[in-house]
Amino acid sequence: MSLEKIIDKKKKDLSTKIDKQKVPEHVAIIMDGNGRWATKKGLPRSYGHNKGVNVLKEIIKASKKLGCKVLTVYAFSTENWTRPKKEVDFLINLFAEVLKNEIEEIHQEYIKMKFIGDLTPFPEKLKKIIFSSESLTKNNKTFLLNVCVNYGGRQEIVKVAKELALKSSSGEINPSEVNEELFNSELLTQGIKDPELLIRTSGEKRISNFLLWQLAYSEIYISDVLWPDFNEFEFHKAIIDYQSRNRRFGGIESLPNESSFEDSKCSS
Ligand code: IPE
Ligand code: IPE
Ligand code: MG
Repeated sequence: MSLEKIIDKKKKDLSTKIDKQKVPEHVAIIMDGNGRWATKKGLPRSYGHNKGVNVLKEIIKASKKLGCKVLTVYAFSTENWTRPKKEVDFLINLFAEVLKNEIEEIHQEYIKMKFIGDLTPFPEKLKKIIFSSESLTKNNKTFLLNVCVNYGGRQEIVKVAKELALKSSSGEINPSEVNEELFNSELLTQGIKDPELLIRTSGEKRISNFLLWQLAYSEIYISDVLWPDFNEFEFHKAIIDYQSRNRRFGGIESLPNESSFEDSKCSS
């Protein structure tokens, strides 16, 4: 058997292990490792960002094919402005270019696009393409793609606190009414269910200010693969790992024998 055939077979074997009934509805991804991927190859970091775009396209297709309903990707954090201006400018141009080139296909695939984050500091050119993409795809129902740009979880929480404080001081709400539901309704992700699964590539074991509220009970999968090398196969590995988890939400594992709890007396 040729090497290609062996790899193909391995891929097929893996996808048959996925339980189609237990696919996460919402997957969030921290697409990390573009720069290191390029540097390792002796290339400028921009090559990694370019390659990363193709990977995102593959993962959108793969997650949709599997039956996921929402994909939320971290493309640019509030902290990424601290990078050299050349890299920031490159990324902003890349977002605009990719969106311009891909939006028709995204629309044809019935994907709704939403940008999450504070768009204010971005150039008009990018904002215009973002708004027109959101407007073009707003009635698509098959799949939701959230792209987080100039997004920070802390900033989002502060924004919600501010909105609620303003509503309280104007008398629109009573401070005693503030609860999780009301808080949720002011989030940038309002109306979207929390991710069941968070994937971070490149081996880093941190959240980096991503969806701090929404990830409260998400399963976390860290892949050592750098984002430009990530693919459908690696994505399936993450899904299979997720399906092996026992999600207890603070409770206990459901056991076949319900009466398994017995009040044990301490014997001294
Ligand atoms: C992720 O890759 C992309 C963005 C943050 C825009 P990085 O650019 O962080 O790549 P590394 O982590 O430096 O390798
Ligand atoms: C997180 O990656 C942000 C994005 C992927 C857009 P970073 O590379 O910015 O995170 P740190 O600096 O390793 O925490
Ligand atoms: Mg990084």
